[in-house]
Amino acid sequence: MARRKFIAGNWKMNKTPDESRELAAGIRKALEGYDKADVAVCPPFVCLAAAGEALKGSNILLGAQNIYWEKSGAFTGEVSPGMLVASGCKAVIVGHSERRQFFGETDETVNKRLKAGLANKLKVIVCVGELLSERQTNVTEQVVKKQVEGGLAGITPAEMAEVTIAYEPVWAIGTGLTASPQQAQEVHAFIRALLRQKFGAGTADAVRIQYGGSVKADNAAKLLEQPDIDGALVGGASLVAGDFAQIVKAGG
Ligand code: 13P
Repeated sequence: MARRKFIAGNWKMNKTPDESRELAAGIRKALEGYDKADVAVCPPFVCLAAAGEALKGSNILLGAQNIYWEKSGAFTGEVSPGMLVASGCKAVIVGHSERRQFFGETDETVNKRLKAGLANKLKVIVCVGELLSERQTNVTEQVVKKQVEGGLAGITPAEMAEVTIAYEPVWAIGTGLTASPQQAQEVHAFIRALLRQKFGAGTADAVRIQYGGSVKADNAAKLLEQPDIDGALVGGASLVAGDFAQIVKAGG
């Protein structure tokens, strides 16, 4: 089935509010009139309002990089689903490998964040991916299976309509070492087969699976033409409006 491509920019811990407004405006301008893919940008929390202003009235979705599952209360440093929605967010990333590596994120907390996002009508991008040592010891599939099953525990096929999976091999993030289109396609096909077992063929065929890890303007097209690669989650190259727009347009 033809799945509409979905390209998201993960700005990570980059850009001030003013810089975010400017970058969002630049991306909007560079994508003016282009409507062949869904696009999201995910600035830091404190930049959501500024970026949102620049995107108002456009088709570009505003997303956050994380979400907490409680509504409010004594959770210093966390941001609630309601706060994200009130800041104009339509999407959120959960389970990024940097959160797993540096901030103790587990499949269980990823699952709670996913459920909180869905309960608040956000589109949720769930990230999975193996470490270099795991690829070298041939346990990529086991690792990804555990992350997909744990992260998506208790989710219904209907809820999966708002879920995107991002396959981001950790060794390819920020390293300039992109997975080859074939390497990425293999894991994407494996993930889709898992989704088929868990949710049925209709749902598995509809879910978009993004690739992430050193996606650039010059390698995006080859990745995006793979049958099970339905988009990209872009870090570094999403910080330059022209580069990000080129990646968006590389999908067709
Ligand atoms: P880079 O594109 O900088 O490798 O980052 C990928 C990523 O982690 C997106 O979430």
